[in-house]
Amino acid sequence: MEQPTYQSQKEANASTSRRSFFRQGLVLGGAGIIGAVLGGAGTIGAGRLSTVQARSNGPSNSSLTKGDVAILRFLSAAEILETDLWQQYNELGGIQDSEVPGGSGSAPYIKALAVLDGDMSQYIHDNTEDEISHFTFINAYLASKGADPVNLEKFRTLQGSKATGAQHVGRLTNLMKLTVDTSYWTRYRSRTKNPEFGDTFPAAVPGLLKGQFPAIPRDDNDLSPNNHIQAIANTAGFHFGFIEQGGTSLYPSLAQRVSNGEVLRILLSIGPTETAHFQTWHDKAGNAPALKDPTNGLVFPNLNASGGEDTQTNLIMPEPTIFLNRKFPAVSIIRPTETAGVAMGAVKSLMDDGLFIGQSPEFLKVLQDLATQADAAERQS
Ligand SMILES: [Fe+2]
Ligand SMILES: [Fe+2]
Repeated sequence: MEQPTYQSQKEANASTSRRSFFRQGLVLGGAGIIGAVLGGAGTIGAGRLSTVQARSNGPSNSSLTKGDVAILRFLSAAEILETDLWQQYNELGGIQDSEVPGGSGSAPYIKALAVLDGDMSQYIHDNTEDEISHFTFINAYLASKGADPVNLEKFRTLQGSKATGAQHVGRLTNLMKLTVDTSYWTRYRSRTKNPEFGDTFPAAVPGLLKGQFPAIPRDDNDLSPNNHIQAIANTAGFHFGFIEQGGTSLYPSLAQRVSNGEVLRILLSIGPTETAHFQTWHDKAGNAPALKDPTNGLVFPNLNASGGEDTQTNLIMPEPTIFLNRKFPAVSIIRPTETAGVAMGAVKSLMDDGLFIGQSPEFLKVLQDLATQADAAERQS
């Protein structure tokens, strides 16, 4: 009989104590929810939970720290959510093909998106494909290390668009009641401020913060009048930038607490693709025409009218600003990249965005639990 190694005995002990924790959790009513998301393909069980939380003994080629697993699992969940929202955009406004199947397009919506750039449909398709690849890769990597992939399928309960071109399937995210924060626009143009110094930034499109607006046609009644469907396309254009600037900050922020070199490489290799997306959408949103939606009064201003740099549309590269300490010279950087609490901050910003309107408290609890675990990760050297 093979002798148990110190490592496996340590894991067995840890697993036992985790099982008692799990039982306590059941009494408290939280573990069922945690188990639901931890279990691949909906399987729930203490055995699988112990697998997920195992291997807290430092980095090696064959095992991951508990913190690295938590970070990857949170990122997997974030990528699943990104995929869900991008899939909805692609069905109506992108290109439906073997790489990104589903839906058949909405000609009036595609035409309105094309006002921002003639290649919008291709870019929407490519961003969607990238997100699919992100969560698929992270889940496969987790499985290869004996950790459970994330599965949110049971929360696919939201009604999506009823417009011609959309699939009639359950959704995880809601793109029809968005409150889009466009302060990223002025944040990346400021030369003197940084959110990490407590600075706040005005929205480029203040109206998008003052209501709940669709970024896809809710049904075919949304396809006219012209300034209404254009406002929906404009909302999408600014929302694309909002989503991808989030990923642009999230990866470098979490990378600072990764332990294993290969996991760090994953974060450093996926993160900059989010920045590539952001850069593209940052450019395209600047082409959204100034207008007022006649159905709800939503105004898209002429961002170049003020003559100031804070909203100038062709300033799509990060302006140099303060970083770490005001004594240093200004530097062009991603902002913010602060690591403390970043996962929960990401969940909050998606909630504030309206993406989860209609989702169950159980879904939000699962996301918050994943974020809490990721935010508890500490770098081990
Ligand atoms: Fe992604
Ligand atoms: Fe993304």
